Amino acid sequence: MKNYFSLNRGWLRASWLLPLAFCGALNCNAASKKIVVGFSQIGAESGWRTANTESIKSEAAKRGIELKFSDAQQKQENQIKALRSFVAQGVDVIAFSPVVVTGWEPVLREIKKAGIPVILSDRAVDVTDDSLYVTFIGSDFVEEGRRAANWLAKARSGKAVIAELVGTPGSAPAIDRKKGFEEILAKNPGMKIVKSQSGDFTRAKGKEVMETFLKSPEAKEINALFAHNDDMALGAIQAMEEAGVKPGKDILIVSIDGVRGAFEAMAAGKLNCTVECNPLIGPQLFDAAEAIMAKKKLPKRTAVQEGVYEMSQAAAELPKRQY
Ligand code: AHR
Repeated sequence: MKNYFSLNRGWLRASWLLPLAFCGALNCNAASKKIVVGFSQIGAESGWRTANTESIKSEAAKRGIELKFSDAQQKQENQIKALRSFVAQGVDVIAFSPVVVTGWEPVLREIKKAGIPVILSDRAVDVTDDSLYVTFIGSDFVEEGRRAANWLAKARSGKAVIAELVGTPGSAPAIDRKKGFEEILAKNPGMKIVKSQSGDFTRAKGKEVMETFLKSPEAKEINALFAHNDDMALGAIQAMEEAGVKPGKDILIVSIDGVRGAFEAMAAGKLNCTVECNPLIGPQLFDAAEAIMAKKKLPKRTAVQEGVYEMSQAAAELPKRQY
């Protein structure tokens, strides 16, 4: 990994040197210098994302970190603009949750040249040079896909005709969840996906796409739904009810995230299983930012601990959900 603490423009900024000079006279120390973090968020497409944003903002405030937060409204070009503006503002650390996996190399090179360390939050990027970021903090999306398929294989005794609501095309969770799910399907020849389309991780799109699935020639045989996130599953539940199909019974539903709305749907008997994807990574994110500032070495990847919840556990779990 490139040593970000070598002499470069980022570390020679006046914002660092001035407090040090004053502190010498006033007997304070450099640790009291406010860390400035630029964070580019994808948007507000799901309940998960809202909880993630809240975790990041509240943790920064708790630690006295100055957070420059930018919402990209689901557009990569907006994220790239935000990253460049963080460089221009001379922040100490840049963190971001990349909307898609590809297309980051040029801007990451610019950031590296400016000597600013990068933390990837929640989603990974596809780059040939992994020195372009210091660390990646996020879930194992492939494993989440495996967990969803394993649950379904058990619930349907290895036989299922599946409709799939895919996440944002080209995003790490959409690619990896599909990969993990299909890995388990390959071991269960009685399970097949007959419909698959993106619902862009939103409730509205999930509903819209499920409506088209329910009007398709395959509609009658579909007995399971795999939604890459809870919001799309919640939209699909609405579509099923409007079409006279009983969600959770006629069609078993497994989705990913573990948001409160999914637990409510499970408690109401409409959703069968949610695989947890924890959005509350603000504390880990700023632990990493502080470690970088303290010149500590970090692992290239930090995973998040997560569980799997079924309908039968929903009522007991619901009061404990934090998001
Ligand atoms: O990257 C995490 C995914 O992004 C969540 O599963 C989804 O709800 C969000 O939009």
